Amino acid sequence: MPSKKRRRTEDRATIHPKNKYAGNPPDFALLASLYPSFKPFVFYNRDGRPRIDWTDFSATRELTRLLLLHDHNLHWWIPDGQLCPTVPNRSNYIHWIQDLLSSDIIPRPNNKGDVVRGFDIGTGANCIYPLLGASLLGWSFVASDVTDVALEWAERNVKNNPNISELIEIRKVECSPSTLTPDGLNNGESSYSVDGEGFPSSTLVVPASEDKSYNGPDILVNVVRDGETFEFCMCNPPFFESIEEAGLNPKTSCGGTYEEMVCPGGEKAFITRIIEDSAVLQQSFRWYTSMVGRKVNLKFLISKLRELGVTIVKTTEFVQGKTCRWGLAWSFVPPSKKIITPHVTEKNVLSFMLEGIQRQVSAIQLLQSTEYFFQAGGASCKLNASSFTVDITASTEHCNALLNNEVKHLDEVSSCSNVEKAPSNLSFRVSVFQQMPGTLLVKGSLQHRDSPLSGLFSSLIQQLEASLRHKFCREKTGSEVETGLSIYVLTTEA
Ligand SMILES: C[S@@+](CC[C@H](N)C(=O)[O-])C[C@H]1O[C@@H](n2cnc3c(N)ncnc32)[C@H](O)[C@@H]1O
Repeated sequence: MPSKKRRRTEDRATIHPKNKYAGNPPDFALLASLYPSFKPFVFYNRDGRPRIDWTDFSATRELTRLLLLHDHNLHWWIPDGQLCPTVPNRSNYIHWIQDLLSSDIIPRPNNKGDVVRGFDIGTGANCIYPLLGASLLGWSFVASDVTDVALEWAERNVKNNPNISELIEIRKVECSPSTLTPDGLNNGESSYSVDGEGFPSSTLVVPASEDKSYNGPDILVNVVRDGETFEFCMCNPPFFESIEEAGLNPKTSCGGTYEEMVCPGGEKAFITRIIEDSAVLQQSFRWYTSMVGRKVNLKFLISKLRELGVTIVKTTEFVQGKTCRWGLAWSFVPPSKKIITPHVTEKNVLSFMLEGIQRQVSAIQLLQSTEYFFQAGGASCKLNASSFTVDITASTEHCNALLNNEVKHLDEVSSCSNVEKAPSNLSFRVSVFQQMPGTLLVKGSLQHRDSPLSGLFSSLIQQLEASLRHKFCREKTGSEVETGLSIYVLTTEA
């Protein structure tokens, strides 16, 4: 049987099902036959398959230009060296946001029929997200940037598409003299060639700032105007702290200047600032979202969000060829459905109802999945098939692993199944009751309320509910089924 980790990797959705290119990848031969400008960039493998040289910036830029033209009716260009987006990958982020907006995790706004309004942080010269969001879904955007070259070219790309130009406002972020900005170094005109959406081929070394906190230009606060509201913000942040950090081995060439790829403190600092700004702006946005390039940063950012007490955090994985990026979304809008239902009697007993379960799914299967869910985080579990219960004991490390969605290898799981019942550990029992065919009640009972970890009990039960619902319930939301979103409802009051 394949390990859970392997299964997860295999299950990874590489492309969102709503993506135009899902099951229908760009056809280089067709494009070359229709557009002579593309012909010189296409060559054929020994097996006769058409290819392009991904390390050639001119080839990738021409491909992007033609995909935007042919498939989206968009006229687009960027100067040499600017970050060149890959259209299928960028479309995935747009469709993920579409899922978030259409899910009912948080109440939908009453302004049905109004144009959805988004904010693209750091739109770049390519202005790709507003162009795609406006042309695919009719969304309107405020698109911000700091460098002159990005602002100028984003504006050009909007103006060259009069059918959607009304929908996109390019907004300059004013840089105060005290802010540290790469723009200050060379006003966005540098062209340290960066390969592979963030991997520079230049060996130029710019020392990273000692101070890891973000001290660049404003991001949302002072850029969003008084009274403005948005359905969402999105961001493909400057990922790296220094050009040296970005200097990984390139396999592709998508351009990218120093200003596009690097910021003081890297993505961790940049997104932390977005989170801090969101705590100020709160419900001015229904959803705050960002791409995250490194999993270790994702974990840090999720814990930061927990500290702030946001109502919801969602994550997804964007698999792009051999690289993986994550989508992080959060909200301050109270969830529409309380995931923990009013079956709560005391704080140490939490329950939820699972409805719409297929008839052949037994309570035992649900118990086994519960056991598996907690074991995957390293916790010790004892399943009792006659009482329909699982007793769980988890240490701080296990709780963190479960809350951060970390899955251990099966061999690690079996070796850590003997967690001591130390008073500092969290011990609780999960019981499953058949209510009627297709409906099961799951109840978690905390064994020792005085454990220092008891505050995590409700988050763990919420995680368990999301996992069981995802696995067994027919009425999963489109986004969960399609993109494997993980739900963390962090502060739902019972
Ligand atoms: C990685 S690029 C992303 C460009 C484009 N959105 C894309 O996905 O290809 C990051 C962009 O953020 C811009 N940027 C950096 N700091 C910013 C800030 N404080 N506010 C707005 N944009 C910023 C950079 O100039 C750059 O254009």
